[in-house]
Amino acid sequence: MLKSPTIKNKVNHMNPIIAPSILAADFANLEREIKMINESEADWIHVDIMDGVFVPNISMGLPVVEAVNRHAKKPLDVHLMIVQPERYVEVFRKAGAEIISVHLEACPHLHRNIQQIKSLGAKAGVALNPHTSINQLENVIADIDLVVVMSVNPGFGAQKFIENTYRKVSDLKELIIKSGSKSLIEIDGGVNQQNSKALLKAGADVLVAGNFVFSAPDPKAMIKGLKS
Ligand code: DX5
Ligand code: ZN
Repeated sequence: MLKSPTIKNKVNHMNPIIAPSILAADFANLEREIKMINESEADWIHVDIMDGVFVPNISMGLPVVEAVNRHAKKPLDVHLMIVQPERYVEVFRKAGAEIISVHLEACPHLHRNIQQIKSLGAKAGVALNPHTSINQLENVIADIDLVVVMSVNPGFGAQKFIENTYRKVSDLKELIIKSGSKSLIEIDGGVNQQNSKALLKAGADVLVAGNFVFSAPDPKAMIKGLKS
């Protein structure tokens, strides 16, 4: 049975969506890590899929996503850092993905990819590498549910936050408002308590955090900190 997507409409900078990235979790104790997220104030679980082609790293595949989904009580936000994502969107949806994001840079037929995700009953996201202009979203922004603004170059956790992201987020917010889109803005990479407030002020709705949450002695407190 597929869970139905539970993306929130009433998100604002006082009530952001927090999505811990399990890339930074202890993979030998994934059940424990998922339970921690279930009990925390987190809203989504961010799942990074890397193919070693689109990005120079390989992370996890379908069996891991299925296992996470068996324990997760929160929506799986699946970030596909892979070439030809259309080959795998359906199986990730079946594995439990409620929100599926593909990279603009990996999709010559982005509009078709978005329609495919939506036809499977999932929420559709488009991820942008740091060098990619938000202007490239102009013709699809009204059709999507999420823009993933990469604030590091994708492929690895625990990298340094790219400062240009603030400007990108406020420009994107303007584009979203101007086009009447309901898309949320997600920030992915290097998010911590030092930059979270300014990101939310610039227009972010969803904060992904891997290293900041999982390397802390009390991950639930870190999630709570980002939330408030
Ligand atoms: C990077 C991934 C991120 C990563 C974030 O390619 O898309 O989701 O897990 O990790 P931190 O928060 O450690 O930068
Ligand atoms: Zn990610």
